Amino acid sequence: MTKMTTDRLKVGILGATGAVGQRFIQLLEGHPWFELSALYASERSAGKPYHEAVTWRVPVAQPAYAGELVVQTPAPAEDLDLVFSALPSQMAETMEPLFAEAGIPVISNASAYRMTSDVPLLIPEVNPEHTALIATQQAKRGWPGFIATNPNCAVVGLVLPLKPLHDAFGIESVRVVTLQAKSGAGYPGPPPEIIGDNVLPYIPGEEEKLQSEPLKLLGALAGDRIEDAHIILSAQCNRVDVLDGHTASVFINFTNRPSVDQASEALRAYKGIPQTAALPSAPQWPVVVLVDADRPQPKLDRDHDQGMAVTVGRLRSDALTDLMFTTLSHNTIRGAAGAAILNAELLKHQGIL
Ligand SMILES: NC(=O)c1ccc[n+]([C@@H]2O[C@H](COP(=O)([O-])OP(=O)(O)OC[C@H]3O[C@@H](n4cnc5c(N)ncnc54)[C@H](OP(=O)(O)O)[C@@H]3O)[C@@H](O)[C@H]2O)c1
Repeated sequence: MTKMTTDRLKVGILGATGAVGQRFIQLLEGHPWFELSALYASERSAGKPYHEAVTWRVPVAQPAYAGELVVQTPAPAEDLDLVFSALPSQMAETMEPLFAEAGIPVISNASAYRMTSDVPLLIPEVNPEHTALIATQQAKRGWPGFIATNPNCAVVGLVLPLKPLHDAFGIESVRVVTLQAKSGAGYPGPPPEIIGDNVLPYIPGEEEKLQSEPLKLLGALAGDRIEDAHIILSAQCNRVDVLDGHTASVFINFTNRPSVDQASEALRAYKGIPQTAALPSAPQWPVVVLVDADRPQPKLDRDHDQGMAVTVGRLRSDALTDLMFTTLSHNTIRGAAGAAILNAELLKHQGIL
């Protein structure tokens, strides 16, 4: 990890007690650039020290450093440099602008503003230049702060491998079938009598996100807007009885069909700003290609590089499909809290924070 600076930015977490909020607490412990200074949740939790308010479910010990901070209901505080938001989308819709308006940048996981035209939707390796939308947003809305977002948790594991393939060979169409973990539904999540020994073939709103967010992420910055990538996308999303880690089967057709070896090489060589600038939370390689025929598996591979690397395997082609593979990402780390922290690191690296 990068050397600790003495003037760390003071950060708050909105939705600190939930599935994503708990990952923020885990990942911000000892962060060299960000110092946790405020925790927010609902009336249910407000007024209690964090260790009492939270039902800790992350499979590592609850860090002591946040335990005595008293949880508050959300309200902008003057001494904050930024907030990470892990609020339910409806709450985010009303609450995040209040912070941005008060001059506090909001780095959000929520879906409320992801597709709003003046709000950047970011994966630092994929589209770091889209942060230019922040200046447009501030000018248009008169906000001294801003909102920047990370994608849906299943989108990150799809788009990270798509990016180098699209750049090298031009993607025409993608079909994706996801197998998404229980923690993706937040806490407490689907009850055991429903999800146990079962697959739920419907996650409300998820397929729409899988079919729209990648087009913005892979799109081109055109002045004060993003022109969507011209790719045909089709998605089927399933919830499965897995604790953490979203798996997806991906089927791609290209303008310039690569061999499987060429595609594998493009994935292995892929690096972005987080790697070249050595941002504190960057994985060494954003996409790791596994060679064993039965990998990736959530239980074995979701924690690769502290949960920040996407693992890919089973690369092959057939008569219908130029390239197919299985991709796996940790939904509450690379798909949520880790994604937002890496976004904040990118913004600090670019001098925006
Ligand atoms: N889970 C994932 O894998 C994932 C991935 C990417 C993005 N996201 C997005 O991230 C956000 C959080 O998801 P999650 O899974 O962490 O949800 P969650 O487990 O249900 O947690 C929700 C959090 O919001 C707080 N909250 C609820 N109502 C509130 C209110 N009226 N005022 C203030 N705080 C309130 C809760 O506090 P209390 O404990 O006090 O109720 C809790 O801290 C959602 O927008 C979700 O779509 C989730």
